[in-house]
Amino acid sequence: MGNTLIVYYSLFQNTANLALEIAVQTGGTMRELIPDKNYSFDYNTAAKEVRNQISRGFCPKLISGDESIEDYQTIFIGTPNWFKTLAPPVMSFLKQHDFTGKTVIPFCTHGGGGFCQIENDIAKECSKSTILPGIAINGTATSEEVTNWLEKIGYEL
Ligand SMILES: Cc1cc2nc3c(=O)[nH]c(=O)nc-3n(C[C@H](O)[C@H](O)[C@H](O)COP(=O)(O)O)c2cc1C
Repeated sequence: MGNTLIVYYSLFQNTANLALEIAVQTGGTMRELIPDKNYSFDYNTAAKEVRNQISRGFCPKLISGDESIEDYQTIFIGTPNWFKTLAPPVMSFLKQHDFTGKTVIPFCTHGGGGFCQIENDIAKECSKSTILPGIAINGTATSEEVTNWLEKIGYEL
C-alpha cells in the first residue's frame, strides 16, 4: 500500500493512543497536528472555544504537522469527536493538502457518539481519494480491535 502516514490531533491523548496503536501495527509514520494556540484542558473553556471555531468554520494555523504528504500513499486521519465533527486542526490539515489518488482511512475517539459526521466530513474534503471504512473508539482501543479492523478493511500488515 506504499508508505503510510498516521496524522492526528489529540487534546486529552485518547486519539494519540489510538494513532500509536495503528502506527505500531502498520509500521507507518506518526504525525501530530499542533495548532498555534492550543485549547484549554478545562472542558467548559475548551467547549466554548471549539463551538465558536466550528460555527465559523475557523481553521487554525498549524505550527507542526503540516509538512508535505507527497511521499505517502496511504493516510490515516484521526481526530476526537468534537460536537459531532472534526477538531478544527484536522480540518486545517485537510484543507491544505491534495489527497488525489491516495487512500484515506479515518479514525476517531469519542465519548459515546461514534463517528457522527466525521467520516462524511473527511470524505467531502478528500473527494478524489479512496476512502476506507474507519474505526471509532470510545476511550481506549485494544490491540485486537485495531488488528481486526485493519484485516477487515484489507490493510496489508
Ligand atoms: C469540546 C469537546 C466536545 C466533545 N464533543 C463530543 C461529541 O459531540 N460526541 C462525543 O461522543 N464525544 C464528544 N467529546 C468527547 C471526546 O470526543 C472524547 O473524550 C475523545 O476521546 C477525546 O479525544 P482526545 O483524548 O484525543 O482529545 C467532546 C470532547 C470535547 C473536549
